[in-house]
Amino acid sequence: SLTINKGAVEFKNVSFHYPESDVPVLRNLSFSVKPGETLAILGSTGSGKTSLFQLVPRLYDVTEGEVLVDGKNVMNYPIEKLRKGIGVVPQEAVLFTGSITENIGWGKEDATSDEIISAAVDAQIHETVEKLPNQYDTRVGQRGVNLSGGQKQRLSIARALVRKPKILMLDDSTSALDLKTEGKLLKALRTYSCTTFIITQKISTAMEADHILLLDDGAVEAWGTHEELLNTSPLYVKIVQS
Ligand code: GTP
Ligand code: MG
Repeated sequence: SLTINKGAVEFKNVSFHYPESDVPVLRNLSFSVKPGETLAILGSTGSGKTSLFQLVPRLYDVTEGEVLVDGKNVMNYPIEKLRKGIGVVPQEAVLFTGSITENIGWGKEDATSDEIISAAVDAQIHETVEKLPNQYDTRVGQRGVNLSGGQKQRLSIARALVRKPKILMLDDSTSALDLKTEGKLLKALRTYSCTTFIITQKISTAMEADHILLLDDGAVEAWGTHEELLNTSPLYVKIVQS
């Protein structure tokens, strides 16, 4: 079948530079994530985290190597089917002028109101929406409705969840959440059983993941669980202690 069934992701000797530049941004990355597992990606600014994300839904294509989803090279999927199975929550949430419902349902116009609300509950934004002047009919992007960065992030997460993706990719999308809210969000995400890539700056988030990938200047500095990295990666220890 040409759709994503399980959500296994494998990078095989992946290198990447942007089309307009010769500077390698990702260097010989190899790792694999099983269906339903969570991978936390850590690394300093400019280490290549967002670039790595973009290769899965083919926002860019690898320069060398292969990205496989369910064992098949992403190049072999029809792009719309590939993207349908992947929920990407970008680093900067993109909302448009329209209602909360329209913003969450964007790209899945057949979503029912129950599905919209359920995604909002899981994304930990429902209570905020309920307090807005017209709840789910409130128009965002208009004068008078000011959503905080963290609230926009959560709307953007709800948008990804409503599509019930097999692979969910969160690009630092929980940076503005307090630990308690983030904990609730991560717990709710587990009920989706999707493969989850989560770029984060927080060790507390990384500790919950099945695997941690620590990127340094576009290369894998360390791979493993929190416990393993404490024993094998001086850079990881430095981050934990900072
Ligand atoms: P933060 O989001 O700041 O934590 O960084 P990141 O780890 O997500 O790094 P990212 O993948 O965005 O960038 C990795 C490298 O690629 C950096 O050297 C960037 O300057 C470069 N880069 C990012 N986007 C582009 C782009 O669109 N074109 C080009 N030529 N370079 C880019
Ligand atoms: Mg980034």
